[in-house]
Amino acid sequence: MLAYTYVRQGQFQLLEKPKPALRDDRDAIVRVTLSSICTSDLHIKHGSVPRAVPGVTVGHEMVGVVEAVGSAVSSVKPGDRVTVNVETFCGACFFCRNGWVNNCTDPQGGWALGCRIDGGQAEYVRVPYADQGLNRIPDAVTDEQALFVGDILATGYWAAQISEIGEGDTVLIIGAGPTGICTLQCVRLKRPRRIIVCDIDEARLAFVRRQYPDVLTAAPDGLKDYVLAHAEHGGADVALEVAGAPDTFRMAWDCARPNAVVTVVALYDGPQTLPLPEMYGKNLTFKTGGVDGCHCAETLKLIEAGQIDTTPLITHTFALRDIEEAYRVFENRLDGVIKIAVRTDG
Ligand SMILES: NC(=O)c1ccc[n+]([C@@H]2O[C@H](COP(=O)([O-])OP(=O)(O)OC[C@H]3O[C@@H](n4cnc5c(N)ncnc54)[C@H](O)[C@@H]3O)[C@@H](O)[C@H]2O)c1
Ligand SMILES: [Zn+2]
Ligand SMILES: [Zn+2]
Repeated sequence: MLAYTYVRQGQFQLLEKPKPALRDDRDAIVRVTLSSICTSDLHIKHGSVPRAVPGVTVGHEMVGVVEAVGSAVSSVKPGDRVTVNVETFCGACFFCRNGWVNNCTDPQGGWALGCRIDGGQAEYVRVPYADQGLNRIPDAVTDEQALFVGDILATGYWAAQISEIGEGDTVLIIGAGPTGICTLQCVRLKRPRRIIVCDIDEARLAFVRRQYPDVLTAAPDGLKDYVLAHAEHGGADVALEVAGAPDTFRMAWDCARPNAVVTVVALYDGPQTLPLPEMYGKNLTFKTGGVDGCHCAETLKLIEAGQIDTTPLITHTFALRDIEEAYRVFENRLDGVIKIAVRTDG
């Protein structure tokens, strides 16, 4: 089968590999129908994910059809259309039982697919702990609608859940990339009074205004004044940082009002400073972390009910055999790209 592979730092290559087989009675084999490319794939390519194993098939956002299951798998059966979770988790350890699946203590736990074990930019993928990692897609939901459920939509859902958003709040979201827009969709479900989205890229702000006319948009320049003018209590009640640029962590807490929640979704290239003397008396609560991606059944229901729709993020579609070109477009942000769907059947 064809599999897009991390060969060495700086190089991915489409290779012919053996089709994966079941190795454990909790595994499933999924025939991938659609996969996508994530910013994290670019981080692997550029060597900034030391855990990534050379030779591994990349890709951790995908949907497909169950082809085979081990004898201990009970939640899905061959023929089921499923989402695949970016995180592998056992469901039984202390952290999993608390819903903190990102910190699952299983040796296979965490972000393994497409990093430490073969992922989904391929025709087939082996998914460990299939009862936890797979969710059946409702018949009324298309593969395109479900494509981001296991990764960036799980991230947006988790970020909105932990941010303690109230109905009267002004919520600031910094970053209108794919993850920022998924976060925006999940924040909207909390019905805050006002949402302000900030991005440095005017085209992304224009996309937000087109899709969500009730959302305010702002450039980073003058952001604090803009937020102050649109908030009741001297800043955003909740600020979510989903950009990951060198200055955006500071922007997030600086635009937050006293006693606000500041949620850091972004990952940074280097350490960030927490200038506590400057923050004294602001009494902020910071929330950080990797996504706990264990709410996929709920997000699939929200999609089925028409409350979440991430299909406008899919600006381009390529066949797996043309994935090189898909990466070129995604990496260089050509042609207004936001997300790319990669089809394995074309
Ligand atoms: N915590 C997690 O588990 C988790 C999961 C997924 C993604 N992430 C992180 O979330 C972040 C966003 O991911 P993405 O896939 O949307 O990536 P992205 O790079 O496409 O999005 C970042 C957005 O921020 C904007 N931006 C850059 N500099 C800015 C600035 N100075 N001010 C305002 N906006 C600015 C960019 O124009 C872009 O639209 C990344 O850091 C990613 O690593 C974290
Ligand atoms: Zn990802
Ligand atoms: Zn666990």
